[in-house]
Amino acid sequence: MERVVSGIRPTGRLHLGNYFGAMVNFLKMQKTNDCLFFIADIHSLTTHPTPEDLHGNITQTLVEYLASGLDPEKATIYVQSDVPEIYELYALLNMNAYVGELNRTTSFKDKVRQNPENVNAGLLTYPVLMAADILIHHAAKVPVGKDQEQHLEMTRVFARRFNNIYKVDYFKEPDAFNFGQELIKIPGLDGSGKMGKSEGNGIFLADDPKLIRKKVMRAVTDSGPTVPNSPVSEAVQNLFTIMNVVSEPEMLEFYKQSYANCSIRYGDLKKQLAEDIIKFTDPIYQRMNDLSNNKEYLNKVAQKGAERAREIASKTVKEVREIMGIKRI
Ligand code: TYM
Repeated sequence: MERVVSGIRPTGRLHLGNYFGAMVNFLKMQKTNDCLFFIADIHSLTTHPTPEDLHGNITQTLVEYLASGLDPEKATIYVQSDVPEIYELYALLNMNAYVGELNRTTSFKDKVRQNPENVNAGLLTYPVLMAADILIHHAAKVPVGKDQEQHLEMTRVFARRFNNIYKVDYFKEPDAFNFGQELIKIPGLDGSGKMGKSEGNGIFLADDPKLIRKKVMRAVTDSGPTVPNSPVSEAVQNLFTIMNVVSEPEMLEFYKQSYANCSIRYGDLKKQLAEDIIKFTDPIYQRMNDLSNNKEYLNKVAQKGAERAREIASKTVKEVREIMGIKRI
């Protein structure tokens, strides 16, 4: 059975990008693969959350994993920091990761541009920690969105390099994965870029229907097509892209056609889009409340997940130490 590993940072609430970029695949894969899904809390430390926020967000992410349908009877669900072997592998892999290649990582360069006052070493070595997350379980597939593609490529490089340096065939090179073949990027509602956690850009699984309607109705569009078959602006294309994942194909086709013949009314498109989003977020939203109140169950899930993850991880770390020559004298 192929092993699958992936994680999401607990930075607040999950948005539609997380859901359609990663979670949709988690849900399908847990039925047929040996899956380990974790909450990447150490990765989220690069932005210095307060301890209260971090703790709350870890719990909230677990609630949202479970409310979305991740099944602890089928998949191993754990919190990254509960598996300290990951830090050990991270430290060891760091020795073979070059500052030049880390400096050139797109996500690192973006972060440097966005927050020049907080360029910490954790950000620079972020791809190494990700590689440790994946390689520690010898994962074959890693379901992620398009934005993680380069990190997966680096994981493959680190695996290959380790094997070359130590002349072993130890680490497997994992593949980024999406059921639809292509890795996807869900755009935001603010006219450009990908959906993220900033307000006005994202829709969260924990948004109630009223808020979803409000956000979608406010989404950026343009002044509308005046000439048949004119090119679609980025803002409107973004709404079509979201519609593509939440709506019936006929609905998307209808609005594309009405754009092409200039009869489109963005108000109608948005109303339809909002209802289609609510149709699938609402059952998740409903389940969140019960789960949030059941701390004992959440605790049990995290503990069971950590035990299984550590079983695999400790074996890997032991083998890596041996390969590298870290042995008892
Ligand atoms: P994170 O927490 O930013 O996002 C979690 C997952 O959601 C996907 N995603 C998107 N997909 C499509 N469209 C979007 N707008 C969008 N926004 C987010 C991401 O691609 C990701 O799959 N570094 C990772 C977490 C991580 C990880 C790992 C993932 C840590 N270790 C090991 C896989 C394997 C991250 O920050 O994802």
